Amino acid sequence: MTAERFIIDDREKNLFRVNREAFTSEDVLQRERREIFGKTWLYVGHESEIPGKNDFQTRDVGGRPVIFNRDRHGDVRVLLNTCLHRGSSVCRHSSGNAKIFTCFYHGWAYRNSGELVNVPGNEDYKSEPAAVYKGLQSPPQVDSYRGLYFVNFDPDAPDLLTFLGEARYFIDLAADQSPEGVAILEGTHKYSLKANWKLLVENSIDGYHAKSVHHTYFEMMMELGATPPMLGQDTVNGVAPAGMGTEFPNGHATLMYPANGLPLATDSVKQTLAGLRSQAEQAFGENYANAMFGLARNSVFFPSLILIDLSFGLTLRTFYPVSASETLVTGWQIIPKGVDEEFVKYRIDNALTFWGPAGLATPDDVEALEQAQKGFGARGEVGWSDVSKGMGKPVPAANDELQMRSWWREWNRRITGEQLPTEGTSFVPFDKQGVDA
Ligand code: FES
Ligand SMILES: [Fe+2]
Repeated sequence: MTAERFIIDDREKNLFRVNREAFTSEDVLQRERREIFGKTWLYVGHESEIPGKNDFQTRDVGGRPVIFNRDRHGDVRVLLNTCLHRGSSVCRHSSGNAKIFTCFYHGWAYRNSGELVNVPGNEDYKSEPAAVYKGLQSPPQVDSYRGLYFVNFDPDAPDLLTFLGEARYFIDLAADQSPEGVAILEGTHKYSLKANWKLLVENSIDGYHAKSVHHTYFEMMMELGATPPMLGQDTVNGVAPAGMGTEFPNGHATLMYPANGLPLATDSVKQTLAGLRSQAEQAFGENYANAMFGLARNSVFFPSLILIDLSFGLTLRTFYPVSASETLVTGWQIIPKGVDEEFVKYRIDNALTFWGPAGLATPDDVEALEQAQKGFGARGEVGWSDVSKGMGKPVPAANDELQMRSWWREWNRRITGEQLPTEGTSFVPFDKQGVDA
C-alpha cells in the first residue's frame, strides 16, 4: 500500500514536509516512470558531442536506450537503440562514427537515419521485414534549446520552449559565455549511488548543506585566501551576499549567490575569464555579463537536468533511477569555445577535484544521500522529511529551501494531480528586455 499524500504544504504554519515513502516505494517509482519520465522533456546530449556527420553517442534516457547522432547529411537524430527484430541494441559502443548500425544478434542493419537496409536471409521472409518495419523508431518529440537536445516520449506534451519558460534564461547564461558558443569537454563522469534519485535533485540545489558537508573543501579554500560561498560582501544585480532561491513554473528552480572569485586560478586563467566577460559586456551589456560571470548558480530543469555554474567550472549533470534506492548519474563539464589550454586544464582540474566521483565534493554528497536512504528504513516510525527552511520569507536565501519546494510541488502535481500554488518568488537576475531584443 502506498500513501496517498506525499506533500504537506501548510502555508499558515510555513511547514513543508515530504513523505519518506516517496523515496522508497516501488509503486511510486512506477508512477514516476509513467507520469514523469514518460511525459516530460528529458535531456539527451549537447550538439558539440556529435560535431561531425555520422558521429554518435549512446545514452540511457529515462530508462530508454537511445542513439544520439548525426546522419550522413549532418542532421541530428535520436533513435531508440533497440532492434526491430527481437530487441537487442543495434549499437553497443558509447560513442563513435558510423553510417550503419548492424545488430550483432542476427545481423539486421540500419542506416544512421534509421531505415532498415539489410536483413540476412531476407529471401526466407514472405512478409518483407524492411517494408513492414521501415526503420528504427525515434521518440515522438525531439527538440533543442541552445545546443541542448531533449526528447519527450509523450506526443501530446507542450513544446520544449513552453516547458522551459523563463527558466531557459539560466541556460542562456551558460550558452552565451563565449561569442563562439560553448562545448562539452571530452570525458564523462558516470557513477551510481545507493539512494533515491530525488535525493540528488534536492542535493544539487541545496545551499544549506555546503558548510557542513563540504567543510573540508571550504577550509582548504579559506586557507588559500578565498571567500566561501554566500559569505562575500557584494550584491550583484539585486542578489544579496546571502544569495536567493527562485522558482519557475513546471518545477524548474535555481539558487544563486554572488560568486567570490576563482579559487586556485592562475593570472592567465583570470585574464581569460575577464576577456570572456568583456566580450559578453560588449555583446549583451553589463547587466547580463554581471549575471553571467558575477553570480554562482545551481539550476534544476525538471525533472533531473542540473546546471551548476560556480565560475571555476560549469557542470551539467543528469540522472535517472535504476530502482527506488539506486540512481545512475552522468556528468559533463561545459567550457566556452576558443579559450586557451591553460584555462581548459584549470576547468578539468576543478571538474576532477571538486565534482568528480573521487573529488572533494561528490563523495561527501553521495555519503550524505546514502545515509538518508538508510534513514528511510525507519519511515514507519519517522515518516516525513522537512523542507521548510526559509518558507514565508519574502526573499528566501540561497541556503533556504524554496527551490526544493518548488520542484516537489511539480513532482506532486504529476504524481497525484494535486496542484499547489507557488510561493510567488520567481526572479530573473538581469534585464530580460535587453537580452531578448
Ligand atoms: S535482434 Fe537484432 S537482428 Fe535479431
Ligand atoms: Fe554538495
